Amino acid sequence: MSRVAEGWTQRCVGCGKVYGDDVRSYVCAKCSNLLELVKDSPVSKTGLYGESTQPGIWRYRKALPIEPDVKAVSLSEGHTPLVLVSRIGAKFGLKGLHVKNEGQNPSGSFKDRGMTVAVTRAVQGGSKLLICASTGNTAASMAAYAARAGVTAMVTVPAGKVASGKLAQVYAYGAKIIRVEGDFDAALAITLKVAGEIKELSVMNSVNPYRIEGQKTNAYEIYEQLGFKVPDYIVLPVGNAGNISAIWKGFKELKEWGISSSLPKMVAVQAAGAQPIVEAIQHGRDSVVAVQPKTIASAINIGNPASWKKALAAIRDSKGTALAVTDEETIAARMDLASSEGIFVEPASAVPIAAVKKLMGKIERDATVVCICTGNGLKDQESVKVHLDSTPLIASPEQMVSLLAKTA
Ligand code: F0G
Repeated sequence: MSRVAEGWTQRCVGCGKVYGDDVRSYVCAKCSNLLELVKDSPVSKTGLYGESTQPGIWRYRKALPIEPDVKAVSLSEGHTPLVLVSRIGAKFGLKGLHVKNEGQNPSGSFKDRGMTVAVTRAVQGGSKLLICASTGNTAASMAAYAARAGVTAMVTVPAGKVASGKLAQVYAYGAKIIRVEGDFDAALAITLKVAGEIKELSVMNSVNPYRIEGQKTNAYEIYEQLGFKVPDYIVLPVGNAGNISAIWKGFKELKEWGISSSLPKMVAVQAAGAQPIVEAIQHGRDSVVAVQPKTIASAINIGNPASWKKALAAIRDSKGTALAVTDEETIAARMDLASSEGIFVEPASAVPIAAVKKLMGKIERDATVVCICTGNGLKDQESVKVHLDSTPLIASPEQMVSLLAKTA
């Protein structure tokens, strides 16, 4: 196992126990909580933004726990557009509604930010066999970076519950696919158990703290794209809860390092059929009660989130909130975002838009709100394709002219 990079401390988020080497299981031997990587000294604003000309997340290398001489396994991830969506914003009574379009990452989701760091680290430590459990995007991302690194990838997915576009990606990138009977939670449990016993397997799920380090760069980008301003709200989908933990960590670092002077409120959004985090927040619980998940937003069809502790802290410490949206609200929001703004996202990525609509009147009109739209719409076409059979079919210019006359 590799030694943690100089200038970094790896510690348990529960009891604070420090680990000097990477930990294969990614959990504390004493209390079973997850681990986090913490930079020992601040990075300055120029250190973070000023010096590198490299595009994407490796530009923030000074804030990443990878030694300077290690070559990154990269596909030019990050640097995704932050788009002011004024038409939808006006409908919701908001002047500053933005979409961070993470679907424009190399494999089409935010997972690439964390994967480039985690795979770089795994390859640096000599790993040849990468594994993850996934609702689709982690698998696609890991498979892409494994291909880039020239190592083998193996993914476990809940059988029959992954969008076909994502599976097509995994297959094309050359990864081995194992289907698991049950949900993502079952796939993750099996994967972690087997990886615990077979030391050649390196787990790339977001329990791996290097993933979180890559994903936190989203906060650095948003801050810069808003003209070095912290948004009032970050609204994002929550499944296994790694991303909310990561983005909150990024904003906290900016403040702790003296670069920014405030923090956003973190708004966690889950599907009504898979809302263990929302329930914990609404009932004031200190832990999460696992549920049997059921939602059309297959990416977040998760009932037992691994990073629940970090997520509850992010929501509570930021004075944010958590809410659930129905599948109908999600599909309507997905269509609205695509047809009003030209941004096509997958169902899970539309839940923040549905949530902002639900919060209408509760968010101040002048607030800067950033919805993290996590994955590309092309990955999950199932719920849109059903409408295509009822589109007009013609065979002549005359028929087209008559159709046009009806449309005008
Ligand atoms: N949005 C999309 C498109 C996702 O794929 C995921 C998670 C999330 C949101 C939630 O992020 O788990 O960090 O809270 N997908 C994982 C996967 C679980 O396997 O691809 P999270």
